[in-house]
Amino acid sequence: MKPTILLIGVGGLGSVILEFLAREDCIGQIVACDLNEERGTALCNLARVSAVAHGYNPLICFIPLDINNKAAVIETVRKEKPDIILSTASMQTWWLPDLLPPEQAALIKSAGFGVWLPVHLTLTMKLMEALYELNYKGITLTAPFPDVVNCVLDRLRLAPTCGVGNLDEIVPKVRLLAAERLYVPLEEVRVLLVAHHALESLVYGEPTDEVPPYFLRIKHKGMDVTEAVGGSELLFAPYAIPPGTAIHFLTAGSTIRLIRAFLSDEEVLLHTPAPEGLPGGYPVIVGNRSLKLASIEGLTLEEAIAINERSHRFDGIERIEADGTVVFCPEASEVLKTALGYECTRLWPGDSEERAKELIARFKEYAKSHGVIF
Ligand SMILES: NC(=O)c1ccc[n+]([C@@H]2O[C@H](COP(=O)([O-])OP(=O)(O)OC[C@H]3O[C@@H](n4cnc5c(N)ncnc54)[C@H](OP(=O)(O)O)[C@@H]3O)[C@@H](O)[C@H]2O)c1
Repeated sequence: MKPTILLIGVGGLGSVILEFLAREDCIGQIVACDLNEERGTALCNLARVSAVAHGYNPLICFIPLDINNKAAVIETVRKEKPDIILSTASMQTWWLPDLLPPEQAALIKSAGFGVWLPVHLTLTMKLMEALYELNYKGITLTAPFPDVVNCVLDRLRLAPTCGVGNLDEIVPKVRLLAAERLYVPLEEVRVLLVAHHALESLVYGEPTDEVPPYFLRIKHKGMDVTEAVGGSELLFAPYAIPPGTAIHFLTAGSTIRLIRAFLSDEEVLLHTPAPEGLPGGYPVIVGNRSLKLASIEGLTLEEAIAINERSHRFDGIERIEADGTVVFCPEASEVLKTALGYECTRLWPGDSEERAKELIARFKEYAKSHGVIF
């Protein structure tokens, strides 16, 4: 029997993933879940007719589900028996600061992405608590800020299998540019990258003086061509993509390839954020429903982890402590304190929901005071 995938969250990212999944022959059934039944059902209907128009015939159904309702999560997973659970559910999307007037948007964004951690952590944590209670043994993939969220969850013994997107959105750019520069087919070029979420905005955005640490190797037919092809230069070469949610196509493409690999009998080299709850992102070998870290010539696992731990601060996070408490960089916390009146220098996971609600409310108020209502 073909596998079932449970997709929780069909918002901006989840709805694009749904459309892509609907065109995947390796999937038996897609069970989509979200809070709003009317919207979710309409999105599933759209995915179904679009896929049929495209020449596919997927099995898709929608089930209303609130991750805050642990019993309902457990019941849904028990009933549907998914092979893979993929969650994109979060308490707030990531692009709202872009709606602010330019000066305020620049101020809020100067704090980095990490200060928004509670809005990304809360639901993933609740989902994983339910899945661990159920002793769920399938594959769990998560989209909300996995480079940090899943690392916090690992400290709580709640780590998902891995995250999706992030550093794997950098790899295709480097592969494409390297293949073009070498005049060789894309298939002959392999990239190995250790990098954090914090690097991505620099790869597709404005260059800055200080960049997060990373490790990059580019190979052509097994030969290391990193230097010859100008690896670091390719990483930061201008490569304009549309701003905002258009990048969901990139995340969704990467996610589908990962899902395909998990369901295949053959192992492939891919990249994922937070494999087994590690901080940041790594090359991984995926296949036969499992994942392992790829060995990297010239770099130990300890060195790779250190690169990602040093990168946290480029997202405004100083460190993650042994009990999962996250300590924010003082300058990052200060931005939100000054602008929103939101004070958070340390986040203990148990306080995440309360802090997320406060942050969302204060940000809404701030946006309203600058003429933006959402
Ligand atoms: N890893 C990556 O590369 C990558 C790329 C893009 C985005 N992301 C992350 O992915 C997450 C989703 O982003 P997005 O733009 O898709 O956000 P979004 O449009 O707000 O979608 C989130 C969805 O989760 C739903 N939801 C909220 N609370 C829920 C609950 N209690 N139970 C079940 N569903 C719930 C929302 O429903 P309502 O709208 O009804 O509240 C919404 O449909 C964010 O954390 C974002 O940072 C990651």
